Amino acid sequence: QAFFKPIQNAAPPSPTTRHIKISVIGVGNVGMAIAQTILTQDLADELALVDAKPDKLRGEMLDLQHAAAFLPRTNIRASVDYSVTAASDLCIVTAGARQLPGESRLNLLHRNVSLFQTIIPPLARYSPDSILLIVSNPVDILTYIAWKLSGFPSNRVIGSGTNLDSSRFRFLIADHLDVNAQDVQAYIVGEHGDSSVALWSSISVGGVPVLSFLKNQQIKYEKETLEHIHKTVVDSAYEVISLKGYTSWAIGYSVASLARTILRDQRRVHPISVIARGFHGIEGGDVFLSLPAQLGRGGVLGVANVCLTEEEAQKLRHSAQTILELQSQLGV
Ligand code: NAI
Ligand code: LAC
Repeated sequence: QAFFKPIQNAAPPSPTTRHIKISVIGVGNVGMAIAQTILTQDLADELALVDAKPDKLRGEMLDLQHAAAFLPRTNIRASVDYSVTAASDLCIVTAGARQLPGESRLNLLHRNVSLFQTIIPPLARYSPDSILLIVSNPVDILTYIAWKLSGFPSNRVIGSGTNLDSSRFRFLIADHLDVNAQDVQAYIVGEHGDSSVALWSSISVGGVPVLSFLKNQQIKYEKETLEHIHKTVVDSAYEVISLKGYTSWAIGYSVASLARTILRDQRRVHPISVIARGFHGIEGGDVFLSLPAQLGRGGVLGVANVCLTEEEAQKLRHSAQTILELQSQLGV
């Protein structure tokens, strides 16, 4: 006898609704922050975990499974074998070396590129219709590497980019103005790193554009405050890494927000790493940088036609040139 008896005159069960599967590659600080946020926010029917360390992998899987009584039902699986990722809708890659205190993201490049050469091809083979969401650093160049190695169209390969930097920016502005960060619109674009570009014209609080408000109010010092806030954003990761050894919670929520926008086809605009060639005079090669992009179930739907000052566009092009020079040395 089964636990449940069928009711009279029931129709045969209809095919299940769309099954959503997410794979997370790398179950370290970042991968697990993302995994637990996916579960808490009920973003998938199935979560597959992959890592190079089998015991760590099984331990993390069991530990998450043991929370089942407190979470929406999600089938959690794990394996060192990439077949566990088959037929994923979204593959999130966090595997790789992380910065030591004071180390730049770009310094991780060669270690993580060689890692990607073993990770991306099987991911793409098992889930040829998935969207790749790259988190490992240096995220802009590694997103380019993932695009080249996967052979996917550019709309299905994105990097978490400055979605995190912009969240830090919004927090600091909100804290300064004592408002809710969700009522602060502010974009940081370009490289997820030391050369990111704050779009001053994009900052608005409760729909009020801040820069024009400051000019009308002749509040000069606030522009200097905003510049200090951007510098604080650029320094954020170094500070957190020096204090706790890594960053994880903010990137976990940042990536979960991208996963929700994609998998629920929200068509929201996020500053994420996309193929930036052809925007704002960026030429000379295929380079991924963060721009305000509309995201949905098909991945990147388009890039917002934001107006940049000449200074902002020049900073963006400089960022692109730096990344292109590094990419040219990789021979990928
Ligand atoms: P971690 O060291 O805690 O975790 C890395 C994981 O990758 C480890 O579990 C390791 O076993 C796994 N791994 C290594 N080689 C592998 C392979 N060949 N296949 C599968 N798994 C493999 O590092 P953490 O703190 O999780 O950071 C991971 C990456 O995310 C780093 O590159 C870090 O810089 C980056 N990151 C990016 C952020 C962003 O905003 N884009 C924010 C925070 C971290
Ligand atoms: C961060 C680094 C680790 O911004 O990319 O948190």
